[in-house]
Amino acid sequence: MMIETNRLLIRPMTNEDALHLFELNSDPEVVRYTGDTVTHNFADAQRILTDLVFNQFNLYKMGRFSVLLKDGTYLGWCGLRYFPESKEVDLGYRFLRKFWGHGYATEASLAILKYGFEDLKLHRILARAMPANLPSIKVLQKLGMTYRGVANDPHYPSGFVLYDITAEEFNNAKINKL
Ligand SMILES: CC(C)(COP(=O)(O)OP(=O)(O)OC[C@H]1O[C@@H](n2cnc3c(N)ncnc32)[C@H](O)[C@@H]1OP(=O)(O)O)[C@@H](O)C(=O)NCCC(=O)NCCS
Repeated sequence: MMIETNRLLIRPMTNEDALHLFELNSDPEVVRYTGDTVTHNFADAQRILTDLVFNQFNLYKMGRFSVLLKDGTYLGWCGLRYFPESKEVDLGYRFLRKFWGHGYATEASLAILKYGFEDLKLHRILARAMPANLPSIKVLQKLGMTYRGVANDPHYPSGFVLYDITAEEFNNAKINKL
């Protein structure tokens, strides 16, 4: 499966993406508001790929997808994650620092929301961000998601701001004109 938008190609991750995950997670600025620690170990990236990304895709057809420019330049990832305990689906994204500020996260996320609602027939997708992560919060707002308050988390004193969007809201807002 491959999703195409105006500027982007979005595809499932492959083994080669371990290198990309390593590059992303070794930049302290990239992981700063994600809750992840900086990785200096390539095996960590491989573990994320097999234990989380491939596992989610095999079980739920969800997961973090690689996002590239049409010339093949790797930008980062965007995708959905299923939490079996709460049965919630969460939108997430992470891009290489040199590609921030071009609207790529918003463009990729819109395509992923459309995939979630139209192909996976989800009813609701939520997203969390640390209150200080203003660029990420801006993306959630641009997507037409609704602020639902602050969720406490014992590991993060500042908690998380919580946003969500339903299939109906997504369709009504007509933001899925990609
Ligand atoms: C969050 C992230 C994915 C955004 O990617 P991006 O491609 O730059 O996002 P977009 O260009 O679509 O939109 C970013 C918006 O934030 C705005 N912004 C950037 N820095 C900002 C700041 N300090 N304060 C307020 N707004 C800010 C941009 O101006 C833009 O809004 P605009 O289109 O109205 O100008 C990227 O910064 C990233 O990868 N961060 C590290 C990983 C991360 O934190 N992921 C999210 C975890 S919840």
